[in-house]
Amino acid sequence: MGVVVITGGSRGIGASAAKQVALRGLGVILTYNTNPEAADTVVRCIEQAGGKAVALKLDVADVGSFGGFCESVVHVLRETWNLNALSGLVNNAGYGLFNPLPSISEAQFDGLFNVHLKGPFFLTQALLPLLEENASIVNLTSATVRVATAGVAPYAAFKGGLEVLTRYMAKEFGDRRIRANAVSPGAIRTELGGGLNDEFETLLAAQTALGRVGEPQDVARVIAMLLCEEGAWINAQTIEVAGGYNI
Ligand SMILES: NC(=O)c1ccc[n+]([C@@H]2O[C@H](COP(=O)([O-])OP(=O)(O)OC[C@H]3O[C@@H](n4cnc5c(N)ncnc54)[C@H](OP(=O)(O)O)[C@@H]3O)[C@@H](O)[C@H]2O)c1
Repeated sequence: MGVVVITGGSRGIGASAAKQVALRGLGVILTYNTNPEAADTVVRCIEQAGGKAVALKLDVADVGSFGGFCESVVHVLRETWNLNALSGLVNNAGYGLFNPLPSISEAQFDGLFNVHLKGPFFLTQALLPLLEENASIVNLTSATVRVATAGVAPYAAFKGGLEVLTRYMAKEFGDRRIRANAVSPGAIRTELGGGLNDEFETLLAAQTALGRVGEPQDVARVIAMLLCEEGAWINAQTIEVAGGYNI
């Protein structure tokens, strides 16, 4: 049984991915930033279903903390699973910010950059020595890369950068048989950016060919597939999981 790290596993898509991955027999190290209670709830849920999970704190904007985080991962792998390598990494942690392009501040720009592009870049670099041969990396991007949605310009630009970075990861890690793919959700029912109200949900559902917004498990099942044997020949791809958003 392998073990994967899922950042932002305390809520939303990351929490659902942690549960889906555990259902497929993998161990999960999920991270939280500000919500240890929510992370504990996910861990308990996985344990009740017969799986194994551990929650660790991680701020993906704090690159200086990644060395210590890696040491914690090594410790947890050994103590909980008697292993010394990871079979996957999901760069999922993120937040939304709605602000039209003319009024975005430098601090807002930097905050989004640190979490959505710099963090995944250096966290992957830091964890790379721990990834085993045939490991799988999944980066969460966004359908806003493909469809310009007013008010999320820096977020979408950094997600676009993460899609490019995904291809470079696949290219440069291929010699170790490590795959890298991006999963690009459309509108999903989570607390991102303050979550959905009825009016916003109706609008987003109308923009989606299948006539509804997505649920976290719609995305989580695809993430889990990419981490398991079914996804073993998928590499360097962006898979949009959006029910046909703005097509
Ligand atoms: N929901 C959508 O419609 C949608 C669409 C496209 C793409 N996405 C992407 O999907 C991913 C997951 O989003 P979601 O909708 O599941 O969001 P969510 O429900 O708001 O959950 C966000 C998760 O990220 C963590 N997080 C936030 N900032 C962090 C930081 N600085 N360091 C570490 N962890 C941090 C949170 O941890 P704590 O709660 O512990 O602080 C939480 O676990 C994100 O990358 C998002 O951009 C979502």
